[in-house]
Amino acid sequence: MSDYSELPVLPMSIRFDHAAGTLSPAGPTLTRRMSDLEGLFLDQDAWLSALADGDPIVYSVVSSRVPEIDRELPQSITTIQPGVTGGEFWMTKGHQHPNHQGEIYLGISGSGGLLMFDGTSTNWVDMTPGTIGYIPPGWAHRSVNVGKEPYSFLAVYPGGAGHDYGWVLEHGLGQRVCTENDGVVFRDYFTGARP
Ligand code: PA5
Ligand code: MN
Repeated sequence: MSDYSELPVLPMSIRFDHAAGTLSPAGPTLTRRMSDLEGLFLDQDAWLSALADGDPIVYSVVSSRVPEIDRELPQSITTIQPGVTGGEFWMTKGHQHPNHQGEIYLGISGSGGLLMFDGTSTNWVDMTPGTIGYIPPGWAHRSVNVGKEPYSFLAVYPGGAGHDYGWVLEHGLGQRVCTENDGVVFRDYFTGARP
């Protein structure tokens, strides 16, 4: 928490560097490696081999100094590396906001997508530079890099929304985003079958 601004947060400008994928002044940076994605890829053996193969960084999240507390409006840039494990594109863990609130993503670079699930329906938004993806309250969400370059996007979200990762482990996200014949295909989250 020490990288966040002290309260009360004063008006400020934040430099957003598209090319570098940075925010300045910067707050905390989170790095997620393959080992942090336990239980999330359908093919457990493929996940284990990726671990044994150097436990690579899958994505990083650079935050601004606006704190994640109620009524503030923090921002972060996520960069997902290109990669495939067991046929599934590399992705974020995915979460639900326990305090159901909306969020927006803005595509910065690369080619990705925003997978959303409300417990019944699944929705996919193609994310390219300049696309705003809207996540309505109550929709769990995961980002996926479907390209061959790093995929980066800016997120802006209510500071009191919270991150519930257990919800995705229990309910899934409806579908999985996989590669087949160099294209993108969707598969059932729990069985891996083509819908
Ligand atoms: O607030 C968001 O939804 C994003 O900033 C995500 O937290 C970020 O993309 C990382 O994903 P996850 O929190 O699912 O690991
Ligand atoms: Mn979110």
